[in-house]
Amino acid sequence: MRQTIVAGNWKMNASKETVNTLVVGILEGLHNVKNAKVIVCASSPYLSQVEALAVHSQLNLGAQDLNVNASGAFTGEISADMIKDFGAEYVIVGHSERRSLYGETDEIVANKVKAALDNDLTPLFCIGELLEERESGNTEAVVTRQINAVIAKVGIEAFKNIIVAYEPVWAIGTGVTATPQQAQDTHAFIRSLLAENDADIAQTTPILYGGSMNPANAEELIACEDIDGGLIGGASLKAEDFLSICKAG
Ligand code: 13P
Repeated sequence: MRQTIVAGNWKMNASKETVNTLVVGILEGLHNVKNAKVIVCASSPYLSQVEALAVHSQLNLGAQDLNVNASGAFTGEISADMIKDFGAEYVIVGHSERRSLYGETDEIVANKVKAALDNDLTPLFCIGELLEERESGNTEAVVTRQINAVIAKVGIEAFKNIIVAYEPVWAIGTGVTATPQQAQDTHAFIRSLLAENDADIAQTTPILYGGSMNPANAEELIACEDIDGGLIGGASLKAEDFLSICKAG
């Protein structure tokens, strides 16, 4: 039995005031979340604030990206140790926005997954196809390439400590959600790819769905056999909406 995981990806949306309101709001309702593990992924300047607010709570903290190097002359970057310094245990890796806007290739993403794992951070490893890739029937080829790049780098055993997030790029921030059937089909395919390497690990690896998940569609998506929770963008910025998704798990 896989535990439901709901993670908020705040992206570049925060101020001290909104972070305070949001985290206090989440903490107020968290006792009503019975099943899901709840994670929020904040921008680096706010990790410290979330750490302080969420101390001794069930709320887990993550970052949104990391640099593969331990330290040094990498202006503007953050390392795994810096992330851990603020009590964060998770890091989003390979989000489609980083792949498309910042040129992150499968190789770069695989190296970041490895850097996270080597430093005891759990990567939320994102994959997903573009609209034109889905329309041309290439969804499975794309996710196969993305998954295999990471398996080649870290090995299948490492998936014991990896959370996969399937985020069809056409569904991110668009209000167009994959139908439960579309999402379930791709999730089942991803699990079958993992199973080609190790059947037991395929059964235990969490695969989250991301892309316009909201309180209205979360329950139906998370109820699908191979969908183990969500990676939530827009709807994670309001405590009420985020909690309602957390309760759907
Ligand atoms: P939205 O929920 O805003 O579509 O964003 C999804 C996402 O990119 C989470 O990482």
